Amino acid sequence: MKRKILIAPSILAADFSALETEIKRIEKAGADMVHIDVMDGHFVPNITIGPLVVSGIRKITKLPLDVHLMIEDPGKYIDEFKKAGSDIITLHAESKGDVKRLLSRIKSSGIKAGISIRPKNSVDLIKWYLKDVDMVLLMTVEPGFGGQKFMSEVIPKIRHLRSIYDKDIEVDGGINKETAKEVIEAGANVLVAGTFIFGNKDAKQAIRDLRESACNGPKDHRRR
Ligand code: DX5
Ligand code: ZN
Repeated sequence: MKRKILIAPSILAADFSALETEIKRIEKAGADMVHIDVMDGHFVPNITIGPLVVSGIRKITKLPLDVHLMIEDPGKYIDEFKKAGSDIITLHAESKGDVKRLLSRIKSSGIKAGISIRPKNSVDLIKWYLKDVDMVLLMTVEPGFGGQKFMSEVIPKIRHLRSIYDKDIEVDGGINKETAKEVIEAGANVLVAGTFIFGNKDAKQAIRDLRESACNGPKDHRRR
């Protein structure tokens, strides 16, 4: 089955002194959603965005807001992120709290829910939640910072997840033209990219390059 490839630029790599201009830029460039990385300095060693900024972004774009919570205790903040206008909220299976209940709290008002795992953790950790979520986010770098190197050891995990899960599989970290081919071939269909899109003057071309990776396929696979 050919899945639609969705591109979710991560604003972590945007120029925060001109966030509105940056979001309009990716909107015009053909982004399918806006990926927002929420970090609390506990679950990961970095602090980024809170609900206040999410509600500010909500006012300037109609694109779906894909909110990635990298926080220790998501239960404390889910309601605020819902109120702020998130369209999909993804939490980490490694976070505190009763994950099943948290997912149903996210979904209670029609918002989509996603589950994520760190690159070293196995799909077994989330098997029990697959029926409850609209999307699985597989980290392809250790969460915390943009601009890191893609971890190719995650590829077999994407392939395995695709064999047991038929909804959206999102990948996040180190995604560029080359790695996009590999993850799409393995079964991912939602690509988060920060540096590759915002770091590029021609965001439209960058987004097109990511989407077209689906048609080109990695060289070694083409020969088979
Ligand atoms: C990392 C974040 C990513 C990050 C991706 O913890 O979840 O969304 O911003 O950035 P790049 O595309 O630069 O690796
Ligand atoms: Zn992210």
